[in-house]
Amino acid sequence: MVSNVSIRGLDPSPLPIESPRFTPRSDATGLRAFVHRVIDEKNLYGNLAFAETCESLALIHRALDVGPRDRVAGVTSSGDVLLSMVARGAKVIGFDANPAQTALAHFKLAAIQHLDVDAYLGLMGVTEAVDRTKTFDRISRAMPTVERAAMIARRDWIEEGVLNRGMTHKIIRAMVKSFSRLVDEDRLQLFLGHRGTPEERSAVLDEVLSRPFVRLMLAPLLRRFNAQLKWLFFPHRICRVSTRPDEMIAEFFETFRPLFVRGGRDNPVLCRSATGLVHDEWRTFLYDDAIFARIRDGADQISMTTRELTEGLELLPEGWATAIYLSNVPDYLTPDGLDALVAAIHRAGAPGARVLYFSLCDEDRLGARLGPRIPEAEHQRLYADDNVHIYPSIEVRRTAR
Ligand SMILES: C[S@@+](CC[C@H](N)C(=O)[O-])C[C@H]1O[C@@H](n2cnc3c(N)ncnc32)[C@H](O)[C@@H]1O
Repeated sequence: MVSNVSIRGLDPSPLPIESPRFTPRSDATGLRAFVHRVIDEKNLYGNLAFAETCESLALIHRALDVGPRDRVAGVTSSGDVLLSMVARGAKVIGFDANPAQTALAHFKLAAIQHLDVDAYLGLMGVTEAVDRTKTFDRISRAMPTVERAAMIARRDWIEEGVLNRGMTHKIIRAMVKSFSRLVDEDRLQLFLGHRGTPEERSAVLDEVLSRPFVRLMLAPLLRRFNAQLKWLFFPHRICRVSTRPDEMIAEFFETFRPLFVRGGRDNPVLCRSATGLVHDEWRTFLYDDAIFARIRDGADQISMTTRELTEGLELLPEGWATAIYLSNVPDYLTPDGLDALVAAIHRAGAPGARVLYFSLCDEDRLGARLGPRIPEAEHQRLYADDNVHIYPSIEVRRTAR
């Protein structure tokens, strides 16, 4: 239990951060919350898609290797990635097309400026806390007016703990809840990663997939209604420009097999939503008081605004960015949009700037026209280190010198 607001200087000993204890079987909230959010927000996919990053902070930092001399331009999304780069001393400019994401990122920055890690996690909903709105009222004065107003309009998100409002969090909880109906407690603990090996999970998964209910009902249903279901599980901007979501749902168990086999606990994206525990990567790259102190000191070195990424890059001084973080924005773009993004990167990127991007598609959406890839050995190491297993394509290219 975290008392309401304890300012800086918390005891540094790294205890595992535990969200409010829940067991998937009893977590009626998993499915009910998913349905309730769809009705409440009258938007199948929801206003707040990414409350926490859906990528590995460790992999991103290894790929971009950002330092005090760097100027980073990128997509804001949950804000976690860009804020963790401020802690490395970089100047950071973020753009996001979704105002809810920009507001969330500014809320996180304001919270980091006023709270220690423990109080921050309580306010954000990772751990229990009382009277979150009172804390919000106190710390949010540091936010830009528009973003503060946007968060004030979503007090329900703050009361619930805004990180528990993200669509990815809700989808993972609903998935765990549904899967807990297919296996017994012991096997659920296996897939959550509390015990067992990838080989054991692979064998048990094959057994589950061979059952008549899955083989004759569930899998055919996913194939039959993939074009409808995609609007529930994927950002609509992607659904409108790509058939990848259709494929991923039609072949759901094959697409997400690596996540099942590796287990929830080892995956920094799945861990908290699936098990209630926070993966160590978060402590290493963000949830640490020394890191918070560096972000506080660098708070005037980050700007985050609501804007199309390509437009934002076009506004930057020529050659400004020494590193560019695109996440999987290329998945949201049409071929013309991809062309415009490549041109904007060429203009905003400093010679030799590193550009990192992911894709749900098993293809490089930007390709060689962006510039040379990083050395193959380094590239293969990034794939080997991938512990999230959501993006089949992880690309790091350098703008032409
Ligand atoms: C690219 S993904 C990033 C999710 C990511 N996995 C993360 O870790 O947060 C989604 C984000 O990109 C934003 N986005 C998608 N297309 C965009 C575009 N063309 N311009 C600006 N933001 C965009 C979405 O609003 C969303 O916040």
